[in-house]
Amino acid sequence: MKESYITTAIPYVNGNPHLGHTMDYLLADTLRRYMTYCGKKVRLQAGTDEHGSKNFKKAAEQGIPVQDFVDQKAQIYQDFIHSLGVEYTDFVRTTDPDHERRCQEIWRKLSDHIYKDKYEGWYCEGCEGYVTEKEYNENHGECPDHKKPYTKLSEENYYLRISDFKSRIREAIESDELKITPAFRKKELLNMLKDMPDVSISRPRAQVQWGIPVPDDDEQVMYVWIDALSNYITVLGYPDKDISADWPAHTQIVGKDILRFHAGIWPAILMGLGLPLPRNLLAHGWITANGEKMSKTIGNVIDPQEIIGKHGLAPFRYYFLRHASTTTDADFTWEKYEASYNELANDLGNLVQRLATLCKKNDISGQKVERVTNEDFDRRMEKYEFNFAFDILWDGIAELNKRIDAEKPWALAKSDPEKAKKVLVKLVVDLLSINDRLQIFLPDVSAKIQDIFTATEIQPPATPLFPKN
Ligand code: MSP
Repeated sequence: MKESYITTAIPYVNGNPHLGHTMDYLLADTLRRYMTYCGKKVRLQAGTDEHGSKNFKKAAEQGIPVQDFVDQKAQIYQDFIHSLGVEYTDFVRTTDPDHERRCQEIWRKLSDHIYKDKYEGWYCEGCEGYVTEKEYNENHGECPDHKKPYTKLSEENYYLRISDFKSRIREAIESDELKITPAFRKKELLNMLKDMPDVSISRPRAQVQWGIPVPDDDEQVMYVWIDALSNYITVLGYPDKDISADWPAHTQIVGKDILRFHAGIWPAILMGLGLPLPRNLLAHGWITANGEKMSKTIGNVIDPQEIIGKHGLAPFRYYFLRHASTTTDADFTWEKYEASYNELANDLGNLVQRLATLCKKNDISGQKVERVTNEDFDRRMEKYEFNFAFDILWDGIAELNKRIDAEKPWALAKSDPEKAKKVLVKLVVDLLSINDRLQIFLPDVSAKIQDIFTATEIQPPATPLFPKN
């Protein structure tokens, strides 16, 4: 089946996973569950970006071989992704021999668009990135993130001739052949493309040992772009296999900081290979802590496991999928988190407990429901407005709570037991119908609710779904 491939950015492994990394995975997982719910067969890739001198240095500091270092980290990232309840179908490591060999073939295929030139200018070792004269001046010669002076570089590099593809990339973005969400970033990208220079895609081996060798040039190793971006297709088997069943991707999910590479360099690589562009690029915002960017220097980096440890996974997913917008920045504070947990417990946890208790008292047996369409919900999901789609479910839950309060089935049970039964059955059916879509966001909770209200004898859960603190 076509158009069912979703990708996530592959994180650098020189550090451990942090809260900022969760957004890629939660969004991808939600989209995957939604598409699966709609009957599609979905492939979801995840992976790790393992080359570069930062890893090499980190491994040396710890006195272990660099391959062992990245092996450990790749495992940590896989465990991390699983801990978020995210299920991927493919995992790619940039040090996989298959990936390395396929990248070399990709390089060869792009050779008409690659040339060698001399780079002279500034460089940040922390970012592993080139720095323009303008950035150098604006930052007074020091990287604001790493607080280290930029170093001067003079070396030979291979370049990818972006200018060969620029006008076609512009057209693709303008016409939504490559659709950018959110739309406000489209203009930003079109401006960026105007002045986008050719990009350096290799470094001298003397500077960076830990990388894929450039084919037919022992002195150079690949640097970042071809190695990292190609993961999305090497994991499908390109160029050894025909990938047309999965490529072009339905949606590629990235953070806003790396959108420009995915909308500039990546389309150039694909065009150079004669492959179609992905249909959608979704750029999510930043997760901040107390309104500030998380950074090791400020010391405000939050470990997602600490949050999950507090109340479990469902409240974590609830917070980031309902109270964080897909496309703008999302702030985390413990205060907001507790408020969100209480809302989940009061609105959904109490509803389940109350309704199941009433059903038990009135001998209501489990119900089966037919799936009903919800166009508003689908429209929101298709626009990647996951948080608004989630709101629609929550409005339904609020409505059920109001109905219980207004219809008072406990009082009815005394005056008109048959009517009480009808009211309860209708409440159960409507809850199950909302719950059918809740599986897209909170799969475990949805499965529990399904079990409770479809069982022959409805029983309230022994412990509430979301116990009070
Ligand atoms: N290795 C590159 C990506 C290559 S993709 C071919 C990279 N790695 S990263 O570890 O810095 O970031 C991985 C993902 O996490 C990116 O999508 C990035 O935008 C996202 N985030 C990292 N910190 C973040 C926040 N604080 N908030 C939200 N997402 C952020 O870039």
